[in-house]
Amino acid sequence: MSTQLWINRFQASTRLNHEMQLPAAPCALPHHIREPLARSIATFQLGESGGGTRLRRYTRSIATLENLRGYQRAVDLFVAEEQSHAALLARTVVHLRGTLLTKQWTNSIFRWMRDLVNLEFNIQVLLTAELIAEVYFGLLALRCTDPVVQTVARKLLRDEMGHLAFQRDFLFERLKTLTPATQCLWRWQFKAIHFATAMVVAWDHRHCLRTLDITPADFRARATRSWQSFQSRLERRLLEAEIQTRERYSRGVQASSSGG
Ligand SMILES: [Fe+2]
Ligand SMILES: [Fe+2]
Repeated sequence: MSTQLWINRFQASTRLNHEMQLPAAPCALPHHIREPLARSIATFQLGESGGGTRLRRYTRSIATLENLRGYQRAVDLFVAEEQSHAALLARTVVHLRGTLLTKQWTNSIFRWMRDLVNLEFNIQVLLTAELIAEVYFGLLALRCTDPVVQTVARKLLRDEMGHLAFQRDFLFERLKTLTPATQCLWRWQFKAIHFATAMVVAWDHRHCLRTLDITPADFRARATRSWQSFQSRLERRLLEAEIQTRERYSRGVQASSSGG
């Protein structure tokens, strides 16, 4: 895994987020749009504001693996970038004259789920959040007319797409060591977690989605497409790695039989 690439990328992106200038004009959205939008963004803000304690603990547990050298440093910077998202979203909530949250029920469920099984499971729940965030910020960037929301959503969308690529790199390293049956099991549980999360988020944010002219069913369909795209790219890499391993093995067999 090329962790140095990610380290550089997270550092540069976090700096940009901290320095980002937002349009100064006050929010001109009518109350019936501004209010649900502010509430919804405040929920995502709370989700982004975690300190990454569980993720760091997990990282420490696998840091000794040869193919994940440098991963710990990359994760620290990844967490710092997520915190810069929380800061940007907090500025957006203030712009929308909304209230920042310290507790919210979907966020509490999410945190509870992350502790449910083990640290490895924790990263799947986190990945699900990244996939949902990609859809959510994509919709805000496309459909919200407020310039501050658009500016922040575009940047966060770009960052979350990077996070998905980072997670894919990591999962590729982890999953290629598993048997095909365990990989299959992993895929089904990931799909189930993602499906359940998309259902809850679509329902919880339904008022905001309505202001963007999106139904909960549309949101779930978009979330499913995002999951499929992520999963098919991951599986393509695993298949390519499997083919390469087989080719190396058969070349080794040929070499040893001609040598013998
Ligand atoms: Fe984020
Ligand atoms: Fe993220």
